Amino acid sequence: MATATKMNGNRSGTGPAGSTAAVSVTINGATQSAIQGERLVDLINRSGIKLAQVCYHPQLGPVQTCDTCMVEIDGRLARACATTVAEGMKVSTTSPAAHAAQEEAFDRILSNHLLYCTVCDNNNGNCTVHNTTKLLAVEHQHIPFQTKPYEVDNTNPFYRYDPNQCLLCGRCVEACQNVEVNETLSINWEDPHPRVLWDGGSTIGMSSCVSCGHCVTVCPCNALMEKSMLGHAGFLTGISKPALNGMIEVVKDVEPETGFGAIMRLSEAESAMRESRNRKTKTVCTYCGVGCSFDIWTKDRHILKVEPEHGPTNGISTCVKGKFGWDYVNDPDRLTKPLIREGEKLREASWDEALELVARKFTEIKTQYGPDSLAFISSSKCTNEESYLMQKLARAVAGTNNIDNCSRYCQAPATTGLFRTVGYGGDSGSIRDIENADLVLIVGSNTAESHPVLATRVKSAHKLRGQKLIVSDLRENEMARRADLFLHPKPGTDLVWLSAITLYLLENGMAHSEFLKQWVNGLEEYKRSLAPFTMEFASKTTGLPEETIKKVAHMIAEAKGVCILWAMGVTQQSQGSDTSTAISNLLLVTGNYMRTGTGAYPLRGHNNVQGAGDTGSAPGTLPGYQSVSDPEVRARFEAAWRVKLPTTTGLDNHQMVDAIQQGKVRSLYLIGEEMAIVDSNSNYVGDAFSKLDFMVVQDIFFSYTCRFADVVLPGCPSLEKEGTFTSTERRIQRLYQVFEPLEGTRPDWKIIQDVANRLGANWNYEHPSAITGELASLTPLMAGVSYERLEGYKCLQWPVAADGTDQPLLYTQKFAFPDGKARLFPLKWTGAQDQPNEEFDLHLNNGRLLEHFHEGNLTYRVSGIREKTPDTFVEVSPALAQERGIESGTWVMLISRYGQVRVRALVTDRVSGHELYMPMNSTESPVNRLTSSRTDPVTHTPAFKETSARIQILPEKGESPLPRINSRFGHPTPQLGVEVERKWKRSDYRVPGSQLVQIQKPPEQ
Ligand code: SF4
Ligand code: SF4
Ligand code: SF4
Ligand code: FES
Repeated sequence: MATATKMNGNRSGTGPAGSTAAVSVTINGATQSAIQGERLVDLINRSGIKLAQVCYHPQLGPVQTCDTCMVEIDGRLARACATTVAEGMKVSTTSPAAHAAQEEAFDRILSNHLLYCTVCDNNNGNCTVHNTTKLLAVEHQHIPFQTKPYEVDNTNPFYRYDPNQCLLCGRCVEACQNVEVNETLSINWEDPHPRVLWDGGSTIGMSSCVSCGHCVTVCPCNALMEKSMLGHAGFLTGISKPALNGMIEVVKDVEPETGFGAIMRLSEAESAMRESRNRKTKTVCTYCGVGCSFDIWTKDRHILKVEPEHGPTNGISTCVKGKFGWDYVNDPDRLTKPLIREGEKLREASWDEALELVARKFTEIKTQYGPDSLAFISSSKCTNEESYLMQKLARAVAGTNNIDNCSRYCQAPATTGLFRTVGYGGDSGSIRDIENADLVLIVGSNTAESHPVLATRVKSAHKLRGQKLIVSDLRENEMARRADLFLHPKPGTDLVWLSAITLYLLENGMAHSEFLKQWVNGLEEYKRSLAPFTMEFASKTTGLPEETIKKVAHMIAEAKGVCILWAMGVTQQSQGSDTSTAISNLLLVTGNYMRTGTGAYPLRGHNNVQGAGDTGSAPGTLPGYQSVSDPEVRARFEAAWRVKLPTTTGLDNHQMVDAIQQGKVRSLYLIGEEMAIVDSNSNYVGDAFSKLDFMVVQDIFFSYTCRFADVVLPGCPSLEKEGTFTSTERRIQRLYQVFEPLEGTRPDWKIIQDVANRLGANWNYEHPSAITGELASLTPLMAGVSYERLEGYKCLQWPVAADGTDQPLLYTQKFAFPDGKARLFPLKWTGAQDQPNEEFDLHLNNGRLLEHFHEGNLTYRVSGIREKTPDTFVEVSPALAQERGIESGTWVMLISRYGQVRVRALVTDRVSGHELYMPMNSTESPVNRLTSSRTDPVTHTPAFKETSARIQILPEKGESPLPRINSRFGHPTPQLGVEVERKWKRSDYRVPGSQLVQIQKPPEQ
């Protein structure tokens, strides 16, 4: 069973990575067993000995700015955080010299920080300054508190910086520079009054800060705080500013007489009262497939903050959406009553009336046209349990396999490529394996914006540990700018250069022949299929120079471990399945499976797109990818569900739309999908929806798709229900209910059960755990999954055996085929379908943005996000802008073969030549009015990325669609962390407890 692990704990390489040899260390006279290479501070903490350590955070590694962790080692003072254990080491944390050094160091800290804990929003039992004051029994401050000559910076919508409370510990800088790797923060150590700087001296609002929140999360005091905490966390902190200042003055006045002890006791009583009022609930992020988990702090329905620390995937990491993107939960526009269509209008109705109508219409349509006239679409935003029930409703109650989810639009081709070659349709390892790779190759993924926390691990490994990075994309996105090699092939030609590299490696003796011999079938036939992919052909087709393609081949062959990451730039093409297959073929030929630091990583989009497929919301597979046409499988489900199940594969999303147009599907029940906008050729999809006899949409807001509905049912967001999500790593994690469902709404699993029961199903699930129990009992892939095994931050990565053993690394003993061997899959190149011509002369690409998720139905309701990124736009290259006279802010009409949208231009060198890019974040001007109904023939995934368009310049000129306060316009200041050596060079610095005035290196190094 996997348990929560800390990420980045060994970032600086001083931890016990991989080592298990024991060494003996004596601490305060007692012998302790340490792991070779372990940091002394970790050993001390593990031993339960209390030691001050203001700047140390295990996930950041030693920052060495505070000096409060001074201990005596074999008679010399040293920082415990920067010391590696050694056999026979004798350590004292309490000797007079050590204690004096700790006190002196902390006194300097307090000269930067005013203790007004009782009226401080950070007084929640976990304030490092407060707790260190208590630990060291500090009664009085020797170096007086000095204000710094700077104002509080309130210019970021989500958090604020108070220089006067800043300890200069540098944790925030370390987190921003080396964990998030946005490289915004630094400290001006040489200044008479050092402080934290954004972009070297900008305001936060105008800086490159992406509001990921890492810095706020690791700040050990109240210098950096979430604005949602301010005035809300404490009982006395909401008072007016003058009253607050008055109280702070009172505290300052009494301190000389009473000492800190009395003040601490009072503030602790207040803090204890907070404990009983402010709740902390573990949840899993509802946005992308990375699967970050964290505690949400709440006071009634107010979200105080998101606190990431123990998540097995993310540790202290989040992106702006997970950290600050939750306003939508309490948005006044939430649907709170079912709606029923009356003519052109929808009117409010009772649950009874709405459910009765749904059951009656489903029954009538089924009776008249048969079960396959009904169709169901589950949501990849919903939980595994809800997806399981949705497919059970379709199959066991309605009697049809017409059930799908939105992985059809993005992930199905990747899953197919992996099913063809290695047997399971999931990531072949964990994000930890990606971190461990020698070389990461990213194809068609804007990882830093679409999977931000996963990207931090790659950026960090690349910056600090020499990991090589190759990026292939049409746009020069952040990862491309950081890459050792950036490839910009012609649109839709990835299959060609990937296959050419594979052929080149095979022909030049650079393939991994032993691996191929032992683990892979089909080499000869596959080799024959590669014949057309010569370097010459590849170069001509992709536009990449032969030398570049060869260089990539050599980099792959020379790397000890290669991970390939890909996303919608690959899958949303007419050969999405084949290109995904080509990626896996290349990994097999080079032996890049079955070890950490290797493997295939299709990056799943929605938070639970992996889980929606895993739990059977797909037309051909029951839960756990068990085929609907396998009689043995069906018999097992039929016995459990006590029904006869349909035997043939149903319709997928794409086929459903065609079938509606043809009058074959008459009714659609759709949960939590903005399908009328996110499906390609959306005009065609909307037209189909308007032809339905009966449509039910279940959502939390009145989405664009709701306009077509006959009944709208108000569901609940993730914070109002229990369940599990499965992330891109195949990691199953529990979410706990943070709030009661908003009055009038119901958790989606209850609504599905209500619908099923109105249709006579007699389901009696009391809690999602019972649904998981049933799923596990019928699904070998998840046999050992249970709520007990997923308690708190515990998680499981499927496949999960009945005894609870899971598989973080997917293929260790064998591949998932009967003979245990992988299969090379022969491929042909057919080329893109929708190509530019004279009339439609530009290539239009599309995708995500950091700040918004998809069309923005949730993120536009977050005021801070809206402020930073208020609208959609079309990116135009400087060359095209010059050619056509376009500026940022020019209104243009984009016209494709399928529709047109009016949108403002943003001139940027992220795109080049005649290639355009449009983010998906708009319901008014959705890019899918322009995309076609052409699909990957294997999976019917629309070729969203193959769109040709022309641009018509409109007379109006507006403001730039991205305001200056967007992080894109900032100027990061990369450096290797907090650079404490610069502090040590200051003339006023000396090592606590020592007479040394200046010191360049700590004594133990
Ligand atoms: S990017 Fe901004 S929010 Fe994130 S760590 Fe850096 S300064 Fe903090
Ligand atoms: S703002 Fe940064 S340097 Fe200041 S106390 Fe917080 S983490 Fe430390
Ligand atoms: S990276 Fe994805 S899962 Fe993590 S906080 Fe951001 S949106 Fe949520
Ligand atoms: S904790 Fe060791 S120097 Fe700060």
